[in-house]
Amino acid sequence: RYLDGIMIRTYAHDDVTELARHADIPIINGLTDLLHPCQVMADLFTIQEKKGRLEGLKLCYVGDGNNMANSLMHGGAKFGMHVTIACPRGYEPDAGMVREAMNDAKASGARIEVVNDPYEGVKGADVVYTDVWASMGQETEAIERAKIMQPFQVNSQLMAAAKPDAIFLHCLPAHRGEDVTDEVIDGPQSVVWDEAENRMHVQKAILALV
Ligand code: NVA
Repeated sequence: RYLDGIMIRTYAHDDVTELARHADIPIINGLTDLLHPCQVMADLFTIQEKKGRLEGLKLCYVGDGNNMANSLMHGGAKFGMHVTIACPRGYEPDAGMVREAMNDAKASGARIEVVNDPYEGVKGADVVYTDVWASMGQETEAIERAKIMQPFQVNSQLMAAAKPDAIFLHCLPAHRGEDVTDEVIDGPQSVVWDEAENRMHVQKAILALV
């Protein structure tokens, strides 16, 4: 009763929806195993700032089909983007989220696809995105995942398969030398610090909205 709203970061997505069902104040999803919408809003804002538009742009998310992949499909589908998830077999994004995004895509003209080859995914991309290979709560799987995800590392060679003016985004924290190399995250195509700053501006907008 002291609160005007709650931002919750947790594991099970159901915990957030259950809280929202019982609350009469805004409940903001600050990250679950399934989705990370507050991050994606900052990401889309950053892409809009850098490219001047969202519609028609190709974004390729490379790596684990996790909460970031799910939310990028969700967000991209609403804005008419071409979102490709390039992930190892068995690490695809949530099937329900793929269906939802494909459904939204029908209305917006977006295109959603899932591929298992990072080079095929990144080809012609305006935006290349990656995230850690083991998310919060998956620490015990880190070694096994690192072996499987290695071909999905975002390095200069993979970036070269995207458009020459492609930008690189990462929700951070990054595991340098794993999901991304220093030369990419510190290189001229990386916009990760503007993206991180935009988290603050976009969270203010979310608070203002609710
Ligand atoms: N997929 C990552 C995102 C961290 C911001 C995790 O859930 O740990």
